[in-house]
Amino acid sequence: MKAPYFSLQVQAAQPGRRVAARDIVDCVLAGVRAGHLPGGGRLPPVRVLERQLGLSKNTVQAAYDELVARGVLETREREGVFVAKAAAAAPFIEPKAEPPLPRMRPVPGLFRRAPPAGSIALSTVLIDPELLPRERVADCIRSVLRTPGMQSLYDYQGHPHLRELIAARLRARGMNVTAGEVITTVGSQQALDIVARAVDVRRIALENPVYAHARCLFESHELELVPLPLDPFGGLPLDEWEPILERTRPGLVYAITSFQNPTGYSYRTHELVRLLELASSLGFSLLEDDWGSDMLSDSEMRPSLRALGGEHVLYVNSFTKKLLPSLRVGFVVAPEPLVPTLVAQKRLSTLGSPWLPEAALTEFLDRGYYDSHLAELHDALDTRYRVCLDALRELMPEEVRWTTPGGGPTLWLDFPPRLALKPFAERLLARGIFVEDSESAFFGRPHLNGFRVSYAYLPEAKLRHALEIVADEAKSALGRAKGAEQPDVSALKT
Ligand SMILES: Cc1ncc(COP(=O)(O)O)c(C=O)c1O
Repeated sequence: MKAPYFSLQVQAAQPGRRVAARDIVDCVLAGVRAGHLPGGGRLPPVRVLERQLGLSKNTVQAAYDELVARGVLETREREGVFVAKAAAAAPFIEPKAEPPLPRMRPVPGLFRRAPPAGSIALSTVLIDPELLPRERVADCIRSVLRTPGMQSLYDYQGHPHLRELIAARLRARGMNVTAGEVITTVGSQQALDIVARAVDVRRIALENPVYAHARCLFESHELELVPLPLDPFGGLPLDEWEPILERTRPGLVYAITSFQNPTGYSYRTHELVRLLELASSLGFSLLEDDWGSDMLSDSEMRPSLRALGGEHVLYVNSFTKKLLPSLRVGFVVAPEPLVPTLVAQKRLSTLGSPWLPEAALTEFLDRGYYDSHLAELHDALDTRYRVCLDALRELMPEEVRWTTPGGGPTLWLDFPPRLALKPFAERLLARGIFVEDSESAFFGRPHLNGFRVSYAYLPEAKLRHALEIVADEAKSALGRAKGAEQPDVSALKT
């Protein structure tokens, strides 16, 4: 591609006279001196200037030739005539005045650390890419790209047939959903975002600990957050939640009901029902994040808040983790009267849906690939889950405990309070194991002392290797901490 050229405002030396070659030379020299024609900037092609000034080609060429001879201009073959560059690296246009940068909010703590290259990411919620159906997705993308008119298709609410398929899948799980109630999003993270933008609610209650990106998202919308304690080793303490909810009166409760992130806890049916009763008696709405549902073996049927509470429960889910994270297709289900507001918020942030991934996913579902993929995925995850539990039982010191989610991608590994997590994580990192700092998942002082362990991401041998290191470091850290707790008897003797 040829560079765009700077226009020249050449004027005759005397009004009423024709422009001469000399005038072009003077004009270029003045422009270069004043910086209007920067080094590396392209000049109009001879034929353009010739037409613009009503001159002969020879006159313009003569002017350019003189400027080239003086070293002011240079010609580049097939590219044009340029102002000679002082230094190759000099910027094309020198900034004249720099406006101040906008003041920015700090980068949230949870984005500040990522697994260093080469380390084993033990806490990730992603699934091992080897278990994902790349080839089949590629087939569907290729097929979709051949659809006539594909490039101009667009739907604000989301691909209509995909919405039909999503609704049918949810109906098969006991939820009474129509395609008109489904809005597709860029991952369920965007679903949470459009809900947060759309609701006329200032206070949201949510589990503590909670999925840190949701917490951070709600905070970025300046919503007031009310933490509801969650102990994954006991039941859901709804007796504790009730007075908190009664006192704080949130407009909405956000609940991750299956394989809660970060603890792996899944709500039991009676807990879902009690939460629905509290919603009715205390007058708050419910936003259910069911991200883990497709990671549960098909044989087990778990009801959702949306199934038990009906269409008033806003429901969020996504295909990202289970399919290809890069497709980023999620969705929110809301009763039809709320759909226009949610779609408007989606349009404000992304205008519409990326048609290609949605159409490819539609084809993937239509061809039956998703169900066969899930069946294979469940088998693989079940095996990895068992390997993980076996390794934990065999390797971990007695005081260490962990949740047993029975599915999903991760469990919570918890250490006695005397183990200081930060230095522990540093020691793990020095041995190539990256565990996520779960601090941003907690409100106030964490009542748990651990991190997520992913059995979905790491192949079995690697997972075991990582757990061996964790166990080894835990034994030393707990041993050291115990030593520090012993009364100093030598001091007593003297
Ligand atoms: C509980 C929960 N909800 C929502 C999301 C967002 O997922 P995505 O945007 O990839 O669909 C995640 C991602 O890890 C999650 O853990």
